[in-house]
Amino acid sequence: MPAPLIAIYPGSFDPPTNGHLDLIARGSRLVGQLIVAVLENTQKQPLFPVAERIDMLKQSIASFTNVEVDSFEGLLVDFAAERQASVILRGIRAISDYEIELQMALLNRRMRPHIETIFLMASEEHSFLSSRMVKEIALLGGDVSTFVPAAVSRSLHGKIKK
Ligand code: PNS
Repeated sequence: MPAPLIAIYPGSFDPPTNGHLDLIARGSRLVGQLIVAVLENTQKQPLFPVAERIDMLKQSIASFTNVEVDSFEGLLVDFAAERQASVILRGIRAISDYEIELQMALLNRRMRPHIETIFLMASEEHSFLSSRMVKEIALLGGDVSTFVPAAVSRSLHGKIKK
């Protein structure tokens, strides 16, 4: 019997959306353990500090028994190796995602050939969602409650009030 797979689902999650949650739910059914990994050091200026992104994710994944949330800095493949993960999970929404995902998957494979990237196609009801658009809508006063988990909606509105 092969050992249960450990997979990393990495991302910025600034903030997590229902699209991310859908991928977590579907990914968690494919592997033994799924580690949602929040990127710590990014050149992008995030709206939410890492601790808040972790907190929103933890609240949103509470019902999944084989999912945990962690954060990482440095190379994703090094973090995956450190956590003994053999799979990197990523979602693809549209053809526009493909090019960058292909580049990352091939570079990651060159650096660590034993770690495979597995892609799940975004569910059609979430295929138009992005953290960037959700932030823009929220900042302009729109209702994002159908796009993000309840914990994220609360945090976004709290942030905007400030
Ligand atoms: O949610 P995002 O912003 O699309 O996630 C991008 C992420 C975190 C997967 C990517 O930026 C990443 O892996 N960063 C870590 C640094 C790294 O390993 N870079 C080399 C990738 S080829």
